[in-house]
Amino acid sequence: MKYSENFEKFCEGLEGPGAFLVVEDKKGRVNVMTIGWAQEGFIWGGPVMTVLVRPSRHTHAMMENAARFSVCVPRRGELKKELAFCGTKSGREYDKARACGLKLKEGAASDLKYIDGCGLVYQCEICGKTALKPETLSAAVLEKYYPDKDLHTLYFGKILKAEKF
Ligand SMILES: Cc1cc2nc3c(=O)[nH]c(=O)nc-3n(C[C@H](O)[C@H](O)[C@H](O)COP(=O)(O)O)c2cc1C
Repeated sequence: MKYSENFEKFCEGLEGPGAFLVVEDKKGRVNVMTIGWAQEGFIWGGPVMTVLVRPSRHTHAMMENAARFSVCVPRRGELKKELAFCGTKSGREYDKARACGLKLKEGAASDLKYIDGCGLVYQCEICGKTALKPETLSAAVLEKYYPDKDLHTLYFGKILKAEKF
C-alpha cells in the first residue's frame, strides 16, 4: 500500500494501546518494544517513519547497532496483552517476542524482522538520528515529559515497504 494510506489507523494505534517497534542488531538479536510516539511523513524526497526512543531503553542500545527497524500496528483490540508486556518489561531481562508468543517474519531486507498478525507493518531503514537537546525544548515540555532528563533520540527510517494485512 502507499505509506500514507491508513494513516488514521496508524494514529489510532499510537494513541491507543500502542504499536510494536522491532529491532534486530547486527548480531541477529531481536527486541520488541511498545511505542506510543512516532511520526510518519515525507522528508528527504521520500516517506519516512520517525520513532522516539529514550536512552534508558534496551531498544536504544540496539538501535545504535542496527540498520533497520519495523513498526507493527495491531488491529483494533488485538494483541493488547502483548503490547502491555512489551511496554513494561525490558529486553535486558526477557526475550519478549518468545515470552509473548509473537511470530517474527523476515522483512524485505537483511536484519529486518516484523511481527506476524499485525494489521499495519512499516519496514524501515535507518537514515538518520538526532538526540533531543534540553535547550531546544520548551520549559513546559521539559517539565512534563523529561523530569528525569531521559531525552528521546529520534531515529529516522526510510520506509522501504508499508503493508496492510
Ligand atoms: C503504550 C506505551 C507506549 C510507549 N511509548 C514509548 C515510546 O514511544 N518511546 C519510548 O522510549 N518508550 C515508550 N514506552 C516505554 C517502553 O515500551 C518500555 O520502557 C519498555 O519496557 C522498554 O523496553 P526495552 O528496555 O526492551 O527497550 C511506551 C510504553 C507503553 C506501555
